[in-house]
Parts: sequence; C-alpha cells; structure tokens
Amino acid sequence: MDKIRVRGGSVLAGTVEISGAKNAALPDMVASLLTAEPVHLRNLPYVRDILTTRRLLSEMGVEAEVREDGTSSLKAANVTSLEAPYEMVKTMRASILVLGPLVARFGRARVSLPGGCAIGARPVNLHLMGLEKMGAACEVMHGYVEASTRRLCGAYILMDIVTVTGTENLMMAATLAKGETVLDNAACEPEVSDLANLLRSMGARIEGDGTRTIRVQGVDALHGCAHRVIPDRIEAGTFAAAAAVTRGNVEITHCQPAHMVAILEQLRRTGCNIEVRGDETIRVQGRDPIKSQDVTTLPYPGFATDMQAQYMALMTQGDGAAVITESIFENRFMHALEMIRMGADITIVGRRAVVKGGRSLTGAKVLASDLRASASLILAGLVAKGDTVVDRVYHLDRGYYRIEEKLRRLGADIERIH
Ligand code: EPZ
Repeated sequence: MDKIRVRGGSVLAGTVEISGAKNAALPDMVASLLTAEPVHLRNLPYVRDILTTRRLLSEMGVEAEVREDGTSSLKAANVTSLEAPYEMVKTMRASILVLGPLVARFGRARVSLPGGCAIGARPVNLHLMGLEKMGAACEVMHGYVEASTRRLCGAYILMDIVTVTGTENLMMAATLAKGETVLDNAACEPEVSDLANLLRSMGARIEGDGTRTIRVQGVDALHGCAHRVIPDRIEAGTFAAAAAVTRGNVEITHCQPAHMVAILEQLRRTGCNIEVRGDETIRVQGRDPIKSQDVTTLPYPGFATDMQAQYMALMTQGDGAAVITESIFENRFMHALEMIRMGADITIVGRRAVVKGGRSLTGAKVLASDLRASASLILAGLVAKGDTVVDRVYHLDRGYYRIEEKLRRLGADIERIH
C-alpha cells in the first residue's frame, strides 16, 4: 500500500493549478442516468472516487468513459441493472446518489445502505424521506433500500438538517417527477448549483439553487448535454492552508475564489495576506506570527467541514489557543490524535477541539483516517522537524489529484513510497 513521506522545513512558493471538484463531478456523472442521450463532462479530477463512479455506472450498463485529461462521456441508453451493490457503496458512500435518478427514470432501484463511516454516523434517512414524499415506496431489506413507484410526483420536502447529497439526490429525482417539487432547507453548496446547471442544460426546470429553497418543475424527459465541472474549492483551500502554514507565497490558479469566501476570510484572520486576482486566481502569502483564531464549521456559505482538518494543522502553529468546533459531523477529529503524536497540543471535548499553538511538531509515522485528515497530516508534516510518513493514502487518492506532485513543484520535500 502506498505511503507519502514528507520532510518538514520547506517554504512553499510558486504556482499550483486546481483540478475539478470531486464533490461536483460525482453527482454530475450520476445525473447521466436520467437520460438515454450522451452527457459529456470536462474538468473532472482524475481521482479514485471518479473511477469508482465510472465502474458503478458501467456495471449498470452505462457506456462510461473517463479520461485523464478530465473529460468523460456517459451514455445510459441501455441500463441493464438498477442496483448499487454493497461492495461499491462501502468504498464510496456517494453511490447513494444513483437512487434518485434510477427511481425517477425507471421507477425502481435497489441500493445498498452505506453503513458506518470514519467521520460520523451519516444516515441517509432524509434521502429516503424525500423520495417517499414524492410517492416512492422505500423498504430496507438485507441491508439494501428497495425503492419503487409508477412515477414520482412533485412534493413539498422540508429537510430538517442541511444535507448536500440529500439535496442532490432529491433534486435529480424531481427533474422527472410529475409536477412541482419544493426542496426546503436545501444545501446551498456550489456543488449543488453545479449539478443544477448541468441538469438545466439537460432540459430540467430548476430555480432557486444556491438558496435554501429549490423549486423543480418536473419534465417528461431530459436530453444529453456538455458541461464543465466547477473547480475544487477544498483542494484550493488545502493549498492555501499549505502556503499559510509554511509561511510561503503561492499562486493558486484555475480556482473560483467566489466559492471560497469563508475559507479565505478565516485565513486572513490568521494573518495571511490574500489577494484575489480576477475570477480564477488567488495569491496566498503566509506570515509570521500565525494568529490563533476560533472557527466553527457550518453548511455553505459557512466554513466548510472539509477544511476543518487542514485548518487544525495551521492552528498547531498559531500564537495562542484556537477553539475549532465541528458542527456537521460528530466524529471528525481523528486527525487530531495523529497530530498529537507529532507533538501538537490539542484537547478534544465533544465537538470542540482546543488547539494550543506554538509547539514544534516532529515527524512521525501517522495513519490517515479519511480524505481531508490525510491532507491535514501532510500539512502538519510540512512544518514538522524530520520525516512524516502518512499511511493509508488511498484516502488521499480518493479526492486529490497528484497532490504530492503539486506540492513538490511548490518546493515541498515529499514523495510517494510504493
Ligand atoms: C457531502 O457529504 C460531501 N460529500 C462531504 O465531503 C462533505 O463533508 C459533506 O457533504 C458536508 O459538506 C459529497 O459531496 C460526495 P451531508 P454528505 O448529507 O452529503 C446528516 C469529502 O471529504 N444527515 O451534507 O454525505 C449527516 O449525518 C467529504 O469530500 C442526516 O442526518 O453530507 C451530517 O451530520 C466527506 N440524514 C449532516 O447531515 C441524512 O439523510 C450533513 O451531511 C443525510 C445527512
């Protein structure tokens, strides 16, 4: 199994190009199930989760091609299986996204329930509740949800918790339902709007994405389209945090600063100099001292939970104490335990982590527990004395395209060990 070795002490400098957003590309690919015509995507990140989605769709009979240049062609003209098996869903929870499109187009689906996860319980009850409101019968049997209906009907659906993939699943389902669906307390994440844009180019009638209320007027059929996936705001944020923690000077290109307001504001508060240049470029200059600043993760447009671990790595170098509150997932502090092994002073009390800065970290062998935890341990390794070896980097490969090469080009002493 691959590992990443990083030696601390380099000051990052140079330019890094951001890839397409994994969390937008996944639902975008799955949306191809809604039509028999081809869907062409550009700017996909060539990462493990995208390849898993290709496999999942292929096994259903979708002609699915994904190329390393970031393009993909998907044609669901001959769907032969309406099932997402446990073996797929357990490696990638986002597989649950096929549920809405399958039920909407074919009236039936059998999808394994995801089960436990390293960052929290992550139930999918709201996905099922919404489909039931639209008239689908959902039964859980043998670990699978089996959903069926003659045709979905529009409904008013209030989600009591903001859920990103829940909103995406139900929005896709609603495009082919009879009548109007209102999704209330919907997720406003840019990835939801990216999916709404794709669906609109397929002929869907959607309004209000990017706000808490999304309205979908169902249509009888959707058609093929071409679509460009938005840039990955979390990858961009990760490089911004890497520049900050190493007191580097990094230009981040091909990103969308408008999607990163909370992340950039938070980094500014810690003392970083951040310059937004046009619509697609940011320059981040890390400065001493790094000011310790509290943060709470929130649904978009708040500070993203997917940046919490990387921000914690930054706060280990702060000039005081920072309280990091994780309000989205109940168990997303596993990286803190590894950072403590590297010498960080972090105390966890429930959903709060108190990070006392000013400690010199020392390199260690550490275990990555999830995608963003892996990234945060690399950031910690960038400022630790000596070598840090991050194990279980398959988590990293799920969502970051060649992160070690991108960091190396910025001057980091980092390599992948096979
Ligand atoms: C998406 O996960 C992202 N994944 C996650 O990215 C991200 O951390 C998360 O949104 C929050 O921003 C994808 O987009 C593929 P949620 P999702 O449903 O949709 C609770 C990464 O590192 N909830 O918005 O699964 C849930 O338990 C990752 O790229 C219910 O209670 O997250 C959580 O506490 C990991 N019932 C909260 O809502 C439901 O039916 C938000 O989760 C659904 C969710």
